[in-house]
Amino acid sequence: MKVLVVGGAGYIGSHMAKLLVDSGHSVVVLDNFSTGHRDAVPCNEVIEGDLGDRDLLDEIFSGRQFDGVIHFASYIQVGESIEKPDRYYRNNVANTLTLLEAMHERGAENLIFSSSAAVFGEPEYVPIDERHPKNPVNPYGASKLMVERMLADIDRAYGLRSVSLRYFNAAGADPDGLLGERHDPPIHLIPVLLQAASGRCQTVKIFGHDYDTPDGTCIRDYVHVVDLCKAHLLALTYLRQSGKTDAFNLGNGVGFSVREVIDTARRVTGQAITVDHTPRRPGDPARLVADASRAREVLGWIPQYTSLDRIVEDAWRWELRQPRLW
Ligand code: UFG
Repeated sequence: MKVLVVGGAGYIGSHMAKLLVDSGHSVVVLDNFSTGHRDAVPCNEVIEGDLGDRDLLDEIFSGRQFDGVIHFASYIQVGESIEKPDRYYRNNVANTLTLLEAMHERGAENLIFSSSAAVFGEPEYVPIDERHPKNPVNPYGASKLMVERMLADIDRAYGLRSVSLRYFNAAGADPDGLLGERHDPPIHLIPVLLQAASGRCQTVKIFGHDYDTPDGTCIRDYVHVVDLCKAHLLALTYLRQSGKTDAFNLGNGVGFSVREVIDTARRVTGQAITVDHTPRRPGDPARLVADASRAREVLGWIPQYTSLDRIVEDAWRWELRQPRLW
């Protein structure tokens, strides 16, 4: 296949580009490098540019025939989305609309969209299946839900089919050790813990220990980045075999508390990792756990790296390859 990976220099996008290349596919990456890293792109053709640049998209689609487009380019920080919602609606929604218009007008087919568990908001029940009500509680989640809605309408009107994949907590790193999560500063729990273990940062703050969970800390469903990428490949095959526009939840169906993740990180790294208790972070639901049975049944998705130890081990191997500050 020839695949356009939009946002292919970011955390999940770069793992996707590597999986495609390793599986013998041809990959073109489009990225504006606002948060992605140029040296993280494991493919030959890299186009630097913005998703909102319609002329550039026209040029990309008129010169090439793609079997599918995988779209990762979005801002992902919940807190920032509350402070600067316009940034999120511009980048995540309006720019995606530009991509859809260009795809439709140039006859490009088969879009896989990175959605998020954030479309559900505060869970009414767990594990969360696809029927769960969608009531996002921040602009980030709202921007993802708006795109899902646009995708359904665009398919009804023009027949451009797509799959939205709602990630729960993406984590881990390339088992070959070549890629990993490189948000600077780190924004997700596992990289924060591993940077503390390696000495790149000091104390880790636990955001709230008075939740209604067995140990009082939030419970999340951590899913290995490579398993997520494999779901995209399966979704692309599904669309190419005339699958209909749909959305699937992606997680392992097992929740771990922040405290359990800290214990795992201490065990895997052999480091003490100092933690501090701080008040709750606004907008954190107590529990987010996926029911991913539909992805299994419809796409044939069988996650391989399901143990939290394995996820943390792969992320730790990557962390140890990062430049030290001393
Ligand atoms: N946490 C800490 N300390 C930290 C970082 C995180 O205690 O330094 C806690 C959070 O409060 C949360 C858990 O660890 O309870 C996981 O937090 P992350 O920031 O790693 O991930 P989130 O669950 O907040 O976010 C993830 C995705 C978002 C998505 C969201 C769905 O990264 O893109 O799930 O609600 F929107």
